[in-house]
Amino acid sequence: MVVLIFAMVCGVYICSIGLKQIGVSSTGRIVSVHLVEKPCEATDIEPLERPYVHFPKPTTFSRGECACNPVRNFAILSTQRSGSGWFETLLNSHMNISSNGEIFSIKIRKSNMSTIVETLDKLYNLDILTSASKNECTAAVGLKWMLNQGLMQHHQQIVEYFRARGVSAIFLFRRNLLRRMVSMLANSYDQNSKMLNGTHKSHVHSPKEAEILASYKPMINTTLLIPDLKQVDDMAIKAVEYFNSTRHIILYYEDIINNQTILYDVQDFLKVPRRDLHSRQVKIHKGTLSSQVENWVDVEKTLKGTPYESFLRADYKI
Ligand SMILES: *[C@@H]1O[C@H](CO)[C@@H](O)[C@H](O)[C@H]1NC(C)=O
Ligand SMILES: *[C@@H]1O[C@H](CO)[C@@H](O)[C@H](O)[C@H]1NC(C)=O
Ligand SMILES: *[C@@H]1O[C@H](CO)[C@@H](O)[C@H](O)[C@H]1NC(C)=O
Ligand SMILES: *[C@@H]1O[C@H](CO)[C@@H](O)[C@H](O)[C@H]1NC(C)=O
Ligand SMILES: *[C@@H]1O[C@H](CO)[C@@H](O)[C@H](O)[C@H]1NC(C)=O
Ligand SMILES: *[C@@H]1O[C@H](CO)[C@@H](O)[C@H](O)[C@H]1NC(C)=O
Repeated sequence: MVVLIFAMVCGVYICSIGLKQIGVSSTGRIVSVHLVEKPCEATDIEPLERPYVHFPKPTTFSRGECACNPVRNFAILSTQRSGSGWFETLLNSHMNISSNGEIFSIKIRKSNMSTIVETLDKLYNLDILTSASKNECTAAVGLKWMLNQGLMQHHQQIVEYFRARGVSAIFLFRRNLLRRMVSMLANSYDQNSKMLNGTHKSHVHSPKEAEILASYKPMINTTLLIPDLKQVDDMAIKAVEYFNSTRHIILYYEDIINNQTILYDVQDFLKVPRRDLHSRQVKIHKGTLSSQVENWVDVEKTLKGTPYESFLRADYKI
């Protein structure tokens, strides 16, 4: 009898220990699941900065060890032939910056505000994969957005989106709009004539290619010259006005060429660690403007005494 009772007590005791262990391991599992889903905290980030800091969870890959590295959203707002391609290659030479090009050159993406929002959501969630996409340790993600790619048209809703998603704007303009015009004309001429062995290139990587492209001297229609310059000028002013409530910085191509310390300002603006940035792109048009325009004498005559006269003078050395 005693032995039987002893055996029963032992059995109950062993059973209860077993049950307790099952309980521990199941609550243990719950705890570990909890840890994985714990949101990243921006504790060491100043309160004013918090709206600009994000912890995206891409659906296409895992951010791994950098899951809790903060990411900032930006957009380079610019016009064609203003050095934005070159500027973007500079940014992309930084290991923590990923600028994904002219995402809105694809027509359906800019067709209405809902496709624009869908595209931007995907981009800022790190789910648009381009050659510029970086590893999981991206700290600033953005795109290059031309003013005529739906940006001016939907400006109110885009400003609202930028506010809600904490997107910072980098305006990049060219001071000398006459030089920009020469670059536009030469680029559109090359679209048809394809001077580099039958391929059209907007940007080049060797002095030889640059020389070939610069050998074409455009003829400028002097009737349209002043209205055209004014239109581009006005559009830039308007864009800055529209986006004046967005956190922004305004850059000029010529200033960056003359003084590359401006690139540190840009990195500070994006809150990424400072690095020396590089681009392999080669400038196409060099030297004085007078040697790049077919009807220079007429152009000079047209601009003398107008607000655009300064465009005739050399504005940087290279
Ligand atoms: C927006 O454009 C897309 C693609 O062109 C189209 O499928 C969609 O119906 C449009 N939405 C609205 C609200 O117009
Ligand atoms: C930048 O990238 C490096 C390497 O991928 C990573 O170790 C570092 O934490 C990143 N910096 C930031 C600020 O995210
Ligand atoms: C064009 O082709 C020739 C040979 O066919 C080559 O030597 C030259 O480098 C090419 N030029 C460019 C700009 O690609
Ligand atoms: C300049 O443009 C105007 C307006 O489009 C046109 O009437 C004129 O013929 C053009 N002039 C030249 C020289 O092409
Ligand atoms: C932004 O521009 C609007 C006019 O477009 C102006 O009324 C407003 O004062 C500007 N805001 C700032 C902060 O400059
Ligand atoms: C270069 O730019 C920085 C600010 O970005 C400025 O402080 C500095 O004075 C500039 N240097 C020259 C030589 O203009």
